[in-house]
Amino acid sequence: MNLLHWARQFKHGLVSLYLNDFVARLLSHALRRVAYSRAGLVMGSGSSIHRGVRFDGTGNFVMGNNSVINRGCRLDNRAMVTIGSNVSISEEVIVLTADHDPVDRDFSGRERPVQIDDYVFVGTRATILPGVNLGHGAVVAAGAVVTRSVEPFSIVAGVPARVVGQRRNDLSYSAEYKPFFR
Ligand SMILES: CC(C)(COP(=O)(O)OP(=O)(O)OC[C@H]1O[C@@H](n2cnc3c(N)ncnc32)[C@H](O)[C@@H]1OP(=O)(O)O)[C@@H](O)C(=O)NCCC(=O)NCCS
Repeated sequence: MNLLHWARQFKHGLVSLYLNDFVARLLSHALRRVAYSRAGLVMGSGSSIHRGVRFDGTGNFVMGNNSVINRGCRLDNRAMVTIGSNVSISEEVIVLTADHDPVDRDFSGRERPVQIDDYVFVGTRATILPGVNLGHGAVVAAGAVVTRSVEPFSIVAGVPARVVGQRRNDLSYSAEYKPFFR
């Protein structure tokens, strides 16, 4: 391992230690918000990131207003993760933006952004793969693996996720959710 590679790995480890083992454990929503903001993670007003959420690094993350990311999610922000307003992401959801080209001889890495539009609801333990856009008001069922973009107001479920229903198109609510110590 050359020195530059070692230094990069060390820096990555330190950032992860700070964000995922220190900030993610702070008991206060306000303190976490300040720490995440200083790390270049943009959070709109009324939005919250609950405890135990893991990021891959600093930056590459924007979240609108009154949205919530529940406990234990993994947000892979190696490429951009954009989350709209009034989005509800349930516990232990995984959002991925990077992988390797499986048929490339060199196993080259690739990165594709994920966009989650306003009023999306993602159920517990769903996985969103790189390059996916969840359209306005879409719903992802618990445990689904979303491999392709989802049309606005569609409800998808299963592995791979397929459309199982439709949501009404006049949604109007706040997804703000900030219980103490959560
Ligand atoms: C996606 C969801 C919201 C759909 O709710 P709904 O419209 O009332 O769902 P229904 O029970 O009518 O199911 C519609 C169809 O999708 C299927 N389905 C629902 N959830 C599914 C899931 N998680 N995985 C696979 N299929 C699912 C149902 O079997 C049904 O199929 P069928 O018509 O062939 O019987 C709900 O199933 C879900 O996953 N909620 C998330 C729960 C959660 O994470 N809660 C924590 C945060 S509050």
